[in-house]
Amino acid sequence: MAKSNMDQDILKVLYSEEQLKTRVQEMGDELYERLKGKNPLFLGVLKGSFIFMADIVRACQLKSDIEFIAVSSYQNATTSSGVVQITRDLQQDITGRDIVVIEDILDSGNTLYFLKNYFMTKGASSVTVVTLLDKPARRTKPIAADLAGFEVPDEFVVGYGLDYAQKYRNMPYIGVLKPEVYAN
Ligand code: PRP
Repeated sequence: MAKSNMDQDILKVLYSEEQLKTRVQEMGDELYERLKGKNPLFLGVLKGSFIFMADIVRACQLKSDIEFIAVSSYQNATTSSGVVQITRDLQQDITGRDIVVIEDILDSGNTLYFLKNYFMTKGASSVTVVTLLDKPARRTKPIAADLAGFEVPDEFVVGYGLDYAQKYRNMPYIGVLKPEVYAN
């Protein structure tokens, strides 16, 4: 583990930098096979996906476009409010596009359930849901990933884009946060 003053807030490492790199490359290869011959639009959901997005588009060497949307449903809480707000909308027409939505985590499903419907109403011809982490134990909406990196237990995970109160996103690994950090 790299030396960092964030490490002291971590109970345990779930996925090391090396494990993430290996799995993201596998996912990139898989996406390449599924989408070759198409002109997909990779659509990252900010902010959490920013590191995974950067890595998976390079792991998947498809000739493709990049777009972002920003949403928020957690604010600074540890459980979803259930209300998804778009804080930065699409900057282009997605009519007829094959969308590959890139998320860091699929948790309650509120965000991706909302976004998948949103992209379809905006005229997308397909929406492929890709998430690095899948936490099925907390799912409340009928949504599943088309491709998921790891299934995670119902613990508070941070790092590699995932935050607690906007911190820890820049840790290179994914770890479980010590409960006393978010109890304070
Ligand atoms: C996180 C994460 C997903 C969402 C998943 O976003 O990045 O977008 O929660 O949870 P859900 O399945 O319960 O909807 P958050 O709202 O914390 O914003 P962030 O991406 O800026 O961290």
